[in-house]
Amino acid sequence: MWVLALTALLVYGSVHTAHSAILIQRGTEGGDTALYCKNDGKAIWSKGVDGGRGRILTAQHGEVTIKHKPDPDHRYTVLSDLSLMIKNLSLSDSGIYYCNAVPVVSLTVTPLQTETTLCDQTEDTDTESGSTPETEEGSAETGNQQNRAEEVYCLAPHP
Ligand SMILES: *[C@@H]1O[C@H](CO)[C@@H](O)[C@H](O)[C@H]1NC(C)=O
Repeated sequence: MWVLALTALLVYGSVHTAHSAILIQRGTEGGDTALYCKNDGKAIWSKGVDGGRGRILTAQHGEVTIKHKPDPDHRYTVLSDLSLMIKNLSLSDSGIYYCNAVPVVSLTVTPLQTETTLCDQTEDTDTESGSTPETEEGSAETGNQQNRAEEVYCLAPHP
């Protein structure tokens, strides 16, 4: 048991160190958002992609911002403090944003539509789930079910 506790402590410690300043930020589809980065006059913004980071732009005080990623709609700009401004957010803008290789913001873009009925339906199905096999309740599935309960958001289902 103490091994588990120690592992948890170590994992927490390393995660806490690596992500010490990561900010959870939310945006709405079609809206704008500004991501802040503490910097000393230069900010290289990138976004977490499969297996690494994809550079977006490099901004430096007194110099022209260099775009590393095609930006035909001019969605990416920087503010005077080198915060990254993203306009007309799309769902695919969700992710981890890095500033000078440090993860600073975890952005979640939520869909514009407000289908609250989906949430009601989810809750209804959960409460009258008489068809759930009994074996699932007592066993190790409990943890999974708890996780799942925490993940029930009022969002549209995945396509
Ligand atoms: C916002 O982005 C969508 C596609 O993601 C595009 O169809 C729309 O024209 C954009 N709106 C503005 C104001 O740029």
